[in-house]
Amino acid sequence: MATALCPGSFDPVTNGHLDIIERTARHFDHVVVAVIRNPQKSQSLFTLEERQEMLAEVTGHLANVRIDFFTGLLVDYAREQGAHAIVKGLRAVSDFDYELQMAQMNQRLSGIDTFFISTSPQYSFLSSSLVREVARFGGDVSSMVPAVVAARLAGRFDPGQSA
Ligand code: PNS
Repeated sequence: MATALCPGSFDPVTNGHLDIIERTARHFDHVVVAVIRNPQKSQSLFTLEERQEMLAEVTGHLANVRIDFFTGLLVDYAREQGAHAIVKGLRAVSDFDYELQMAQMNQRLSGIDTFFISTSPQYSFLSSSLVREVARFGGDVSSMVPAVVAARLAGRFDPGQSA
């Protein structure tokens, strides 16, 4: 029974992430979507619990997917989970250098391979950081994130609305 690990910050989960998770779930028996507790890149907008809740809501239709979190090295967590592969989405050449470097480092540290899935073209411009920025200034992100996420973003940036 092959298990794949989809790691990330998911701050918040976007339609691009969801597409990668759904496609991973078709190829592996089990998928663990693992949210990093403290993203290195920035102060997170949503707490770890909120990021996990949103992921659980939007992947509820996928019976072989479960949501978890990790701290520390990804490969230590991957080994703990008995993961056979790490799966990442690749949006563009700009993602490639860093993702390749991480894949090679993770392979060297653990022997676990990283599989890349090409992002669906309609999502290649999409990132959580841009979604946060657009939402912060009142832009419409409803076609870029699941409805539950759009509602939480609206509530975060316009406390008059419930989320
Ligand atoms: O969604 P992100 O922010 O692009 O995800 C990046 C993430 C969390 C997958 C990456 O930063 C990671 O694996 N961090 C865990 C720490 C680690 O193992 N670092 C060594 C990587 S070679």
